[in-house]
Amino acid sequence: MPVVEIKKDIYWVGVVDWNIHDFHGYSRSPQGTTYNAYLVMDDKITLFDSVPAPFQMDLYHQIRSLIPLEKIDYIVCNHIEPDHAGAMPFLMDKTKPEKVFCSKMGHRALLDHFHQPDWPYHPVQSGDSISLGKRTVHFMETRMLHWPDSMFSYLAEDKLLISNDAFGQNIASSQRFDDEVDLPMLMDLSSHYYHNIVLPYSNRVTAVLNDVAKLGLEIDMIAPDHGLIWRSHVDTILKAYRDYAEQRPHNKAVIVYDTMWQSTEKMAKAIAEGVMEEGVAVKIMHLKEYHHSDVMGELATATGIICGSPTHNNGIMPLVANFLTYMQGLRPLGRVGAAFGSFGWSGEGVNTISDWLKTAKVEVVEPGVKVKNVPNHEKLAECKELGRQVAKAIKAKIEAAQ
Ligand code: FEO
Repeated sequence: MPVVEIKKDIYWVGVVDWNIHDFHGYSRSPQGTTYNAYLVMDDKITLFDSVPAPFQMDLYHQIRSLIPLEKIDYIVCNHIEPDHAGAMPFLMDKTKPEKVFCSKMGHRALLDHFHQPDWPYHPVQSGDSISLGKRTVHFMETRMLHWPDSMFSYLAEDKLLISNDAFGQNIASSQRFDDEVDLPMLMDLSSHYYHNIVLPYSNRVTAVLNDVAKLGLEIDMIAPDHGLIWRSHVDTILKAYRDYAEQRPHNKAVIVYDTMWQSTEKMAKAIAEGVMEEGVAVKIMHLKEYHHSDVMGELATATGIICGSPTHNNGIMPLVANFLTYMQGLRPLGRVGAAFGSFGWSGEGVNTISDWLKTAKVEVVEPGVKVKNVPNHEKLAECKELGRQVAKAIKAKIEAAQ
């Protein structure tokens, strides 16, 4: 992928990972991703961020198309996760930079990852700035957005925010900018990314956005380390992040389940009818067909989470347990839900799901519905009623938020 000059003397020198569908082992990235790095040509030639180790030669060729690597004076490591710092040992060997800038937490983490105490570390903190010659770089620590070491670099003269993981999207594309692709598609990818990676740190997102506003930073371009660069829709993505973090209620429920002999599936469909009868949108997602990260992507615009499993070995189906664990870790706020499922003899599944939802701070409509073996007409009517009750709870949340 050719390098691209994104601002005068500032180049995208990243790589496109066209075929990755498993992002960090926990989220799907069906459209691939990119690892963005930025090279600034100034009196001090500076590289911002890098790429995973397996892509280090791609990065080499990108930079080499502009300058020999040994011309690089500074490296800024905004985040040490291996998708952005994996190539650091290679880069350090090739460039032997005068200085490596990182946050204080980043300094510790670089030592923990690469065990190289002799690299020329220059830990920085919020408020610190450095001159590259014609331009100044201001650093802003963004702890837990989304790792302890994360930070932003703001290039004041260029009105450019290099934002690391924040504002990213998983998309492999020959395009580099937000205005070169379909905006609703890009916003969907942004939302999927946020709700699988950033969601637990939503309070930090709000705090960082407030800090940026307080500082009055002029930003006309946001260059994240994944996906496309925001230049025409900067305000749109900033507002979207505020909205994602706020988690206001949405008029939708997600019904997520696994099933053995389709009894639980029949219940899911009956519950969906009840939800719809109350004028609330619904999405049914069978966990054998939908990845847990895609369910979280859908839950971004849903306030209801209704979860079902047959009782299996006195518990619940493995995919349901997997989803509940995943959702609990992402800590969505302000959700209402319910549990349902069939059973053959012992019937613990529904209570297990209810308990799990409560642990995830979901307000659970009780009792859930249990069906012995196969649901009859009356039991399906009970399922519908559960759907109605959850829908009413969703509408009450929306009303309360207005
Ligand atoms: Fe894209 Fe936290 O690494």
